[in-house]
Amino acid sequence: MEGGCAAAGGALTFLVGDARIGCQGLGNWMVRGFEFVAFTSSEEASVAISGMDGKDVHGRMINFLPSFLSQPRMAAENPSTMKAVQYDSYGGGAAGLKHVEVPIPSPKKNEALLKLEAAAINPVDWKIQKGILRPFLPPRFPFTPVVESLLRLPTFLGVSVISDVAGEVVEVGSGVNSFKKGDKVVGLLSFPNGGGLAEFAVTTMAAMAIRLPEVSPSEAAGLPIAGLTALQSLKAIGIKFDTPNKSSNILITAASGGVGHYAVQLAKYAGLHVTATCGARNIELVKSLGADEVVDYETPEGAKLKSPSDKKYDGVIHCATNIPWSTFEPNLSSSGKVIDITPNFTTIAASILKRITFSKKKLIPLMLVPKSGEMEFLLNLVKEGKLKTVIDSVYPLSKAEEAWAKSISGHATGKIIIEI
Ligand SMILES: NC(=O)c1ccc[n+]([C@@H]2O[C@H](COP(=O)([O-])OP(=O)(O)OC[C@H]3O[C@@H](n4cnc5c(N)ncnc54)[C@H](OP(=O)(O)O)[C@@H]3O)[C@@H](O)[C@H]2O)c1
Repeated sequence: MEGGCAAAGGALTFLVGDARIGCQGLGNWMVRGFEFVAFTSSEEASVAISGMDGKDVHGRMINFLPSFLSQPRMAAENPSTMKAVQYDSYGGGAAGLKHVEVPIPSPKKNEALLKLEAAAINPVDWKIQKGILRPFLPPRFPFTPVVESLLRLPTFLGVSVISDVAGEVVEVGSGVNSFKKGDKVVGLLSFPNGGGLAEFAVTTMAAMAIRLPEVSPSEAAGLPIAGLTALQSLKAIGIKFDTPNKSSNILITAASGGVGHYAVQLAKYAGLHVTATCGARNIELVKSLGADEVVDYETPEGAKLKSPSDKKYDGVIHCATNIPWSTFEPNLSSSGKVIDITPNFTTIAASILKRITFSKKKLIPLMLVPKSGEMEFLLNLVKEGKLKTVIDSVYPLSKAEEAWAKSISGHATGKIIIEI
């Protein structure tokens, strides 16, 4: 593209791409991607193009630039576009994902640009693609998934949508004080910026924590949604993590999944007796995470959720789907609580009924509310070896659709990770 304008008394012509800009009275300008740099002679410009360090010159000359040229831009050594994975309509599953090259987003005042190292796929990502949060999400097409996060939809819907990434801060907006360039972070991306299935993403830092060096990007990326949901579910039952708990029996359904495998470990850390359900192939794994009793959900006893030692549950972290209240009810202690992280309208109706009838047994739908302090708590547990991320599988960004399909299958053991 070619253009022209008047600048500091000289006619400025410019080409978009790697090109020389001629500007009377101001010497020569090189434009690379989004970076404008000034040189005193065309010889200097052609030498500098292969080893450019134009910061001083850039700083001095930027004042002469018309305002549309003086916006903060990507550093010259950085690329201006990135690889990303997007979908452009509802439905389509893994086949609906497309690999694209898109501009790297720019952080606003209270945002940071992250160079992503890893992202985790959660069921909510493909559920949004299916359209369960239509018309609120996605907010637009094309959409880069594992991305739109920390969006609190109207509270009457009680929904928050979040997503997991680990990455390095490469640029911060002027309003970001708590993080700086070079920080390695983990957390949840913020709405409405670019997604986690990409090389870079912009986010507010409200739900970010520093990733400790002892915790790898992949281990860390698994934590935000699944780890925080497990932690908050246990807290919703009344479990404390700073003082000892009275002895309690807990049931965790789908204990081999992303949320369930963290919930088992956190429940044991809190000193609880844990009964867990999972498929036969994962029984040994779930025992190794600390579960005291493990039941195969495909057996008749498993389907009834009965504890092998006939214990009644003081709390249930319900991570599977489609189990009715009538199955939980006979297995609960007199004031047992079921925390349902997969609520549907029936669950919500049952929950309201329990409330208005002052039932001591309770059914509580739970939606994650991200908190960076809790994120730090989980990272410390991983660092200390008290919590681990079981990784089902790791895919490069170029094979994101395989990771997507694996999550849709409903048969992940632990977390599905994309390394970027
Ligand atoms: N409310 C929230 O804020 C929130 C947050 C996170 C997740 N969620 C929801 O919670 C659910 C679980 O998430 P996730 O990430 O843990 O899922 P996930 O990792 O995809 O769970 C897969 C695992 O669940 C096991 N499983 C499936 N059905 C089971 C059953 N009836 N009994 C026992 N195990 C069963 C599977 O075992 P097999 O392979 O042997 O079948 C597999 O190992 C999803 O629906 C997700 O959308 C909600």
